[in-house]
Amino acid sequence: MAATPAGRAVKRLVVLVSGSGTNLQALLDEIHRTGVTAYGAEIVAVGADRDGIEGLARAELAGLPTFVCRVKDFGSRGEWDTALAEAVSAFQPDLVVSAGFMKIVGKEFLARFGGRFVNTHPALLPSFPGAHGVRDALAYGAKVTGCTVHFVDDGVDTGPIIAQGVVEVRDEDDESALHERIKEVERRLLVEVVGRLARNGHRIEGRKVVIQ
Ligand code: GRF
Repeated sequence: MAATPAGRAVKRLVVLVSGSGTNLQALLDEIHRTGVTAYGAEIVAVGADRDGIEGLARAELAGLPTFVCRVKDFGSRGEWDTALAEAVSAFQPDLVVSAGFMKIVGKEFLARFGGRFVNTHPALLPSFPGAHGVRDALAYGAKVTGCTVHFVDDGVDTGPIIAQGVVEVRDEDDESALHERIKEVERRLLVEVVGRLARNGHRIEGRKVVIQ
């Protein structure tokens, strides 16, 4: 088994995507740049909740195994959740990263991956949770917003916060311009946080995440 310079095992990551996959790409690029052992983690598979997305194409280009688990292929949301948990488990990840994965996972998934399932959200939680964090911050008239990397719990974007990045809202911003600036910060933050979690390990004390 490969080891980091500090003698720890390289961590296995499964990344989940639903869209363009630029956060996935940032992880891939950084791991390529530093090397797996220096980064402390390798991506072992990429999963999605839909076909035909750029995120999957990026994974395939990188030579990674991919899988798709679509809600509509299952009789219930619970069955989908179990299937997703099993598909991810097959790759024996240490950490699972939701990098723009636009589905709320259920009990079975959290039973297996709770405390090691990381999500990135394009707003400063607890403000503006949900699927439209950028649009909602803009509509509210917030002057600063940003991104939050957090562990997933059974609420919507309510889990313990690992790190946040701040982005100023400009008068001329529309949703897409603001989201692009947030994503620049978000990609750097995600890469940095996942690497630190992988290399150092962590513990969760109530709402506080302590990276050792
Ligand atoms: C990110 O801003 C993420 O926070 C949000 O969707 C975006 C995904 O972007 N949920 P990408 O697919 O990584 O480019």
